[in-house]
Order: sequence, then C-alpha cells, then structure tokens
Amino acid sequence: MDLKVDISLTGIAKPEIDKTRVKARAAYDRLWDGKDDFTGWVKLPLEHDRDELEDVIATGYRIQEQCDLLIVIGIGGSYLGARAAVEALPVYGGGGKYPEIRFAGNNISGTYHKLLLDRIKDRETCLCVISKSGTTTEPSIAFAILKDALIRKYGKKEASSRIYAITDRSRGILREEVDAEGYKSFVVPDDIGGRYSVLTPVGLLPISAAGIDVKAMLSGAERVMSSPKWDGDAMDYACCRFLLMESGKGIEVLESYEPQLQYFAEWMKQLYGESEGKEGKGLFPASLNFSADLHSMGQFLQEGSRIFFETVLNVEKPDMDITVPESAGSLLSGRSMNEVNLAAVNGVIAAHKSIGVPIVRIDIPEMSPYYFGQMVYFFEMTSAITGFMMGVNPFDQPGVESYKEEMRKELTSV
Ligand code: PA5
Repeated sequence: MDLKVDISLTGIAKPEIDKTRVKARAAYDRLWDGKDDFTGWVKLPLEHDRDELEDVIATGYRIQEQCDLLIVIGIGGSYLGARAAVEALPVYGGGGKYPEIRFAGNNISGTYHKLLLDRIKDRETCLCVISKSGTTTEPSIAFAILKDALIRKYGKKEASSRIYAITDRSRGILREEVDAEGYKSFVVPDDIGGRYSVLTPVGLLPISAAGIDVKAMLSGAERVMSSPKWDGDAMDYACCRFLLMESGKGIEVLESYEPQLQYFAEWMKQLYGESEGKEGKGLFPASLNFSADLHSMGQFLQEGSRIFFETVLNVEKPDMDITVPESAGSLLSGRSMNEVNLAAVNGVIAAHKSIGVPIVRIDIPEMSPYYFGQMVYFFEMTSAITGFMMGVNPFDQPGVESYKEEMRKELTSV
C-alpha cells in the first residue's frame, strides 16, 4: 500500500495534463540534475549520512533519559516539520518513557513564554535550539530566556549538557556559542533550505527524541523518491496546480479530517506559500480542519466565490476507532466513528463536485512514520516542480526580509 493521488475530480482533461507534462518534466529533471542551489533534499532519502543518522538516534535516546520535557526552539522551516511529525504521530501509551515535546520561539508572545517558563520549574527539562542563521529574532529571544532558566535550575555545566543545537556548520552566533559552551550539536546542511529540511537533523532530532521511528520515515521518503510512479503523480499534481492557477484559481485549500494532521497542513502551507508566492505569482495555501470547519467555512466552500480548489488529505485507516452507542440515534448507532468520518469525506467531495469545485484527493493508508516520510517527500517534490513551472525560484524567500527591516526600525525608534 502507498499514498494514492487522485486528480480525476479536478475537471482537467488528460490531454491538457499531458501537454503540460513537458513543462513539469523539465522542472523535475532540473531538480535531479542538482545544478540549482538548495536541491540537496532531492537525493537525501538515499544519500543521507548514515553515521550522522545513528548519532541523531542515539542523541534522541539520551534526551529521553535526561528529561521529561523537551522544549524545541525554532521557527518556520526550523520548526514546522518537527511539529507536524510530533502531532501527526503521537506515541500512544509511552508510559512516561518519552519526553513531552513543547515548542518555543515560534511567536513573540510574553504570555506564551512565561507559561512555558513556569512549566520548567518542576520538570526535568532539555532544550533543542534550531536555527540555521542563529540570528532569527523569535528563537533568539526564546533561547536566551529558556537557557537562563535552565542555568538557574541546574547550574551552567549541567545546563550545557541539556542543550542541543542544530545550526550552520561554521557561521553564526549560535555556532560560536555551541563551540564555546560545548553543546551537543548537529548541522543544517548547506544545500537544503529550512522548509525542505524535515528529513535532516533539523526535523529528525526532535522527532527521534519524541520516540518516533525516523528510519521508517526516511524509508517512506526513499520509496517515493525511487519509484517512477511517484514521479508521475508528483508531476500530474503539479500540472493540475499550475493549470488551476493559470485558469484563475488563487487559493488551494488543504483539508484534513484527522485533527492530528493540523500541523502537517501548517508545514505544507509554508512549503507551498514560501516556495511559490513571489514575483506576483503563486497559489495561496489555506488549510481547514474538518469536520469542525464544515460548520463555519463549509458555507463559503459551497456557495461563496469560486476562487479556490481543494486538496483533501484522507487517512484510510486511522489510529483508533470507537463504536457509536445506541443513544446517538438509529442512523449512527452501531457504526464506527471512522465510518461516519469517511461518510463526511465522501459527502463533502460529492457536494463540492456537484458545483464544479476542482478537487485533488490524497489517500494516506495510515498515519505511520513510513507514510509520513512518503508525504513529506511527495509534497516537497510537488512544490518544487510547481515553483519551477511558474517560473520562480522555489528555494529562496526574499520577501520575508521586508517586515524584519520595518520591525528593526520600530525597535530602534522607541
Ligand atoms: O524556510 C525558511 O528558510 C525559513 O522559514 C527559516 O527556516 C526560518 O526563517 C528560520 O530561520 P533560521 O533557521 O535561520 O532561524
């Protein structure tokens, strides 16, 4: 069983996709020839450093032994992949063997970080700080605050042994601090950008510390990477996205029916939005959590302006199930909750199909590390192919600098 991609409800005729495939194939080949910067992720599932992976896993075990609370500090590409995995793949019944994973440095809220500080007091805590540049405002503030708290609690020497860092090989103030303080550290590869880095130590160390099988994740990615079927699926999906954008659709709504996929959609939003949204181009990636959002945004989807298409993520065999009791009424009683959820998936697709909303359906056999790895690689490939098809560089993000400049001005003027 593998991830299944169904584009038959996009309303795009096969000859049109076949014609656009030439462009998609050129983008795909360009990714594989590796001449562009930041394409190191393309061969990563097969060509990753095996010794480094063993070190990541061993360090994950060490973190599990050292603490019951691991605070992962980072933002954007240095945050969302790990969070997506930790939320999507809960280790049920760990019996306290695995640390609780909390995230910091992804906002500048005093309230959020004060509450986190309070949590450290009575917990055995470790920090994992992730920043390629080492200078990003949000994680820098959070790390400074949390490191001080750790030093107060354990003393400098012990605190240093509880800090794990993932940053540039040689540059930046975080690297300087790592070298000076002797923190255990890993490297953010030079040829892989933040949003494509979940299968490097950036994602794998926190994921491994959470008790998730990272080798299975990499083999899922490798399966997609090495199978021609997937190349075809990624290109077809990219063709649909490209053609839908050309036809005037401005928004891709990512929809899931399992709450544990909420952060996977957040990760996808960064991947798509930051890779494609430039030079006045790109699809705006939005995400909805069903069935909750059917009772709010469902109205817009059914009768609002037709500026969007939908990409549905459906988990075929969810982690658990419950039988609906008799008191729920004759239509529902005796059925499994997952059966009712599937009726919602199919019902929503039928209702939206009836008004001509283009729909891509992606069926995920189950939420395991292996399929998570398949999803990561598949969407990375789709995003990069679509970006090249749109004529933009999917691996830069020049636009994110503007607000930082204005924010600096605000801080220096008061
Ligand atoms: O994808 C990206 O490049 C960004 O989201 C960065 O990862 C994010 O801004 C964090 O940067 P850094 O890792 O340098 O702290």
